[in-house]
Amino acid sequence: MKTFGCIGCGNMGSAILGGLESQQDISLIGYDPSGNVPCTACDTNLELAEQADFIMLAVKPDYVESVLETIQPALTEDKVIISIAAGVSMETLSKHSGGKCPVIRCMPNTPAMVGEGIFAFCFDDPALTETQQTAVHTMFEQIGQVMVLPESKFNAFTAIAGCGPAYVLYFMEAVTEAAVSVGFNRKEATEMAINLFKGTTKLADESDHHLSLLREMVCSPAGVTIAAVNHMDRTALRGNIIDSIFKARDRGIEMSK
Ligand SMILES: NC(=O)c1ccc[n+]([C@@H]2O[C@H](COP(=O)([O-])OP(=O)(O)OC[C@H]3O[C@@H](n4cnc5c(N)ncnc54)[C@H](OP(=O)(O)O)[C@@H]3O)[C@@H](O)[C@H]2O)c1
Repeated sequence: MKTFGCIGCGNMGSAILGGLESQQDISLIGYDPSGNVPCTACDTNLELAEQADFIMLAVKPDYVESVLETIQPALTEDKVIISIAAGVSMETLSKHSGGKCPVIRCMPNTPAMVGEGIFAFCFDDPALTETQQTAVHTMFEQIGQVMVLPESKFNAFTAIAGCGPAYVLYFMEAVTEAAVSVGFNRKEATEMAINLFKGTTKLADESDHHLSLLREMVCSPAGVTIAAVNHMDRTALRGNIIDSIFKARDRGIEMSK
């Protein structure tokens, strides 16, 4: 039985611990200064690092270096650090863990809170064994989609999947406002927006058709949908969405300098 320890049990740490809870072959431990830990609590980060085989860093990026320095005495080559801190590079992780154990950089997104996340993993550390990689892959694929990426793709991944829930929710909010504007009450409008996205996502997931074909199926000749889609095209909505994602990617590049 392997032990998975989580340092920092806030939004993301607790969500990941919650997702891993049902897995039979790992025991979960956590540390958070608040004492709010959704599994067995350790008294300190060092105690957690001594006990855990996999040590997840789920603290804010500014705390990563000091946490790594605190747990360094407990690190050995058979342990693995998994950091989900946005923008913290593999180089920083290796440096502040003293090169004493392999490090993995991971970027989750908020749907991980309901077991539907997308996780990017960077397995580029040469010290990482095949067995360790497989164990991490297996653990996380049960709580979402796992993508193994070189670190150079992390800013692009973050701009799409990391920030993506905000874009989707923004679109859902717009649909809700439109529904309220045409006379639905807010509860009806919100439920309609949620079910619209839920149903369309399921359709896209389960259908063999390309996304464009599924959209064309709704656009009858001279109908109402094509009128809306034409307006979206004339106002360059698609181009603006693409450019917005580029802005997020560029901001990520700027922040990592
Ligand atoms: N939320 C997201 O959408 C998201 C997405 C991708 C990546 N991430 C990354 O995930 C990490 C955590 O984000 P979050 O949103 O979960 O933040 P959060 O809710 O603030 O959780 C961080 C937790 O760490 C605790 N903490 C502070 N210092 C600590 C220490 N020395 N040792 C152990 N725990 C400590 C905090 O306690 P206090 O509140 O008492 O300080 C808090 O409970 C960040 O690095 C972020 O970049 C988050």
